[in-house]
Formats: sequence, structure tokens, C-alpha cells
Amino acid sequence: MKTVFFGMGSIGQRHAELIHKKFKHDLYAFRSGKSNVKLPDYVTELKSWNEVKKLKPDVAFITNPTSLHIDTAIKCAEIDCNLFIEKPIDSKLKNLDKLLRIVKRKKLVTYLAYNRRFHPVITELKKYFTKNEQGLSYGNKFLHLRSVNTSYYPDWRAGDYKKRYTAIKKMGGGIVLDLSHEIDYTSYLLGNIKNMSGIYGKRGSVTVDSEDYADILVQTKSGPGNIHLDFFSHKVENKIEINFENLTVIGDLSNSEISEVRNGNLIAKKQFPTERNISFENQLDYFFANIDNPKMMNNLIDAAILFKQIIKFKKTYV
Ligand SMILES: NC(=O)c1ccc[n+]([C@@H]2O[C@H](COP(=O)([O-])OP(=O)(O)OC[C@H]3O[C@@H](n4cnc5c(N)ncnc54)[C@H](OP(=O)(O)O)[C@@H]3O)[C@@H](O)[C@H]2O)c1
Repeated sequence: MKTVFFGMGSIGQRHAELIHKKFKHDLYAFRSGKSNVKLPDYVTELKSWNEVKKLKPDVAFITNPTSLHIDTAIKCAEIDCNLFIEKPIDSKLKNLDKLLRIVKRKKLVTYLAYNRRFHPVITELKKYFTKNEQGLSYGNKFLHLRSVNTSYYPDWRAGDYKKRYTAIKKMGGGIVLDLSHEIDYTSYLLGNIKNMSGIYGKRGSVTVDSEDYADILVQTKSGPGNIHLDFFSHKVENKIEINFENLTVIGDLSNSEISEVRNGNLIAKKQFPTERNISFENQLDYFFANIDNPKMMNNLIDAAILFKQIIKFKKTYV
């Protein structure tokens, strides 16, 4: 299989290394000339768009800054590439419908990469919402979900954190889109989000002009939830607390564990693998196993529904 990368930054390199190790695909990169990242020896550089076209790649990995995703994806879709697009779809809606039309017309296989769906804690939490003939498999009525993701952004990106897309509005930065993982898995666990409201903004000095916090209220198919995100907390926390009628379940993504609490007592603790790449590996396994399946989970057509809600939220509550 011929896979071309558009963006060999931190996430592009991670995917390339994992694909090389496990799948042994032929890997290529079409560079922007905007970074001085050196390609690993298992990735061949394509020097011109003509070379990309001539190669007839099977899959394009869109791993460049967020604001470039849709335009890059359109160019690739036009030459019949299947698409693996890093989250979020883009920073704006411009040309999204055009991209969706091409994808539908050409019946391309597409996937929007929200890897946290493949984190072992989220995989396990999903089971609490799985219905069997008696109702929910854990016999619980869902009441409410609360999700928190806090961290100190300068700690993620040594040195040049203010030059990266995360810190800069026009490159698609800001916490709402950057940590839209939390919005995505809330929708994945609870069913489609019907309504999103809240506040967001810039309070600290860790970004240039993008928002560094958000408090989002969601109404979903199963019930309500809230999501707190920030980039300025000196405490790393990534937890989801789910209240069922007779059980509180706490998923801790940072420590890869789930606790069950009833009447104030810890009744169970489950530990999961903690390797940094596990969700990325599981995601690639899923993607390549479904490479012929246009109905793959979180394909672009499905993912566009949530993305449009996120952009509407950003416009409405600014
Ligand atoms: N799923 C996740 O957990 C996760 C984690 C990190 C990032 N992401 C997503 O992946 C995307 C890329 O993030 P990243 O952290 O990999 O970014 P990054 O390290 O800043 O790399 C972006 C790459 O895009 C290319 N590029 C093209 N035009 C550019 C421009 N004008 N300025 C800078 N670089 C440009 C460069 O690669 P070339 O030199 O090869 O052209 C650059 O190395 C974002 O959309 C982000 O949301 C997802």
C-alpha cells in the first residue's frame, strides 16, 4: 500500500513510525518547506505535485496544521486518495461541503482521527453504554457525564510553544479544536450531541491569541454532560466521571484506570495498558482493517456533523 504524508511534524512522524513497524507500507511525504524536520530513512520525499499524482497513492495522511486540512484533503481526494485526516477536520467550514461532495462522488474511504476513542479507558467505558436485551449491559440508568482535561501547555512543546499552531488562532489553534477529543468521545459515549453551549476565551499567557480554556455544556441523546478544558493549569488531569443511577464510574485517561464507586465506597478498580502509543496503534489497526469500508467509524461524512456543531459553538459563544 502506498501512503503519502502531508505534514511530517510530531503526529506525522508518530504515525509514520508506527505504520513502518507494523504494516511495512511504502511511505512517502510531500513536504511544505515550512519545517526542517529530517525524514526518517523509511520515508521517501516526493518533490512535486506531479510526482504525487504519478505515484497514485492509496492513502493520504493529512497531518499538517489544522487550518490546512480541508484544502489538502480536497487536492488528495481529487486524485482518488483515501483519506486519514488528523483531528479536527479544520478550523473553519470553508470548502467542507465541497470536500464531502468529492468524497461521496468518488466513494472514497475516509476517517477523522480521534485516537482517544481507541484509548483502553474509553473502549472500556463504551461497554457501560452497550445495550443488551435487558437494557444497558451494566443495568444502569445514565444520569450525567463530567469530563476534565487540564494541563500546562508550555510543558507539551519544549521551547517553541508559542510558534506552534496550538497557540495561534489563524493556524487553527485554541483549546476547543485542539482538545476536541473530549467533545468527540462525549458524543461517542452518549450518542449524538443535540446542543452545545458554554463559554471559552483566553485568560493566561500560554498562547499567542488562541483561547486557553473552555467550559462546555452538552445535551446528548442519552442525557447531559459538561466538559472543562484548559491549557493553564499546573496540574495534569484527564478524567471522565459518569454517574449512573446506582454507580459512579471514574475513567482516568492519564493513569489508564477506571474506578467504580457506590455509596462513597470504592467497589472496583481496573487498570489498563499505559503505553503512550496504544491508542494510536489501535486506531491504525482499525483504519487499515477497514480500508475498504466507506462506512468506517467516524468517516468524514459522519464526523462533519459534530465538526459543524463545534464551529457553531465557537461562533455563538465567542
Ligand atoms: N490525535 C492527536 O492526539 C494529535 C496530536 C498532535 C497533533 N494532532 C493534529 O495533527 C495536526 C498536526 O499537528 P502537529 O502537532 O504534528 O504539528 P507540527 O508538529 O507543528 O507539524 C506540522 C507539520 O505540518 C507541515 N506544515 C505545512 N505547512 C506548515 C506551516 N505553514 N507551518 C508549519 N508546518 C507546516 C510541516 O511538515 P512538513 O515539513 O513535512 O511539510 C510540519 O512539520 C493538527 O491538526 C493537530 O490537531 C493530533
